[in-house]
Amino acid sequence: MEYIERIDKIISSSGKMSRKQVKKAAAQGRISLDGIIVKSADIKVNKNQNLTLDGVPVIYEQYTYIMMNKPEGYVSSTDDPHSPYVIELLSDEFKKLNLFCVGRLDKDTVGLIILTNDGDAAHQLLSPKKHVEKLYFFECAEKLTDSMVKIFNDGVSLGDGYTTKPSKLEIGEDKLSGYITLTEGKYHQIKRMFGACNNKITYLKRCKFGGVEMDSQLQVGEWRKLYENELKILLKSVIRC
Ligand code: URA
Repeated sequence: MEYIERIDKIISSSGKMSRKQVKKAAAQGRISLDGIIVKSADIKVNKNQNLTLDGVPVIYEQYTYIMMNKPEGYVSSTDDPHSPYVIELLSDEFKKLNLFCVGRLDKDTVGLIILTNDGDAAHQLLSPKKHVEKLYFFECAEKLTDSMVKIFNDGVSLGDGYTTKPSKLEIGEDKLSGYITLTEGKYHQIKRMFGACNNKITYLKRCKFGGVEMDSQLQVGEWRKLYENELKILLKSVIRC
């Protein structure tokens, strides 16, 4: 027996129903365990048992992993009580899952943010030792020169005694935009790197995190659970798989 968890916890962790709704579904005879209808949602279930809701098997997901297309103006931590928190964009069921952001994006940065309640995975994904790559599209105020590629690859001194790890800069044709890949995530890192080179970031969007790309179908402010293959890619860079 790999896990023992209550029916209401198992079904509600999928985000499809609240625990209260699961209780009601059980009372209505919509839930069965090993082919037998169970009228109570507090029965504990192990992995070898076949749990169904409306005849459809329910797979227990211990943790939830979400990708969101973060809008401008939203914050990715609870530090700023005056700005809307990205968690507010989730549906009520997902709001209850104690999700948090894996790393931070600035309030004015948009794009891919990963949310989870898997603290261990988040810790690993953010660990500098794991070198998890994050790809950003940027626009800047001053034209870039090819020499910047080497400067970014060598590491940029941020003026507080810290020199960034090598990062990959790809300059767009207009020289005022491009892509940058980081393997770390210091506070305002990209803005500070450009600042240290007498330039200024005017737009920043994260496109990729640990091999997982932003779903182009997700409109700004939209989110969805990671697909299984995406989760594998994400976790492959760190602990499991
Ligand atoms: N670097 C920044 O400066 N801001 C972000 O939001 C992410 C990386």
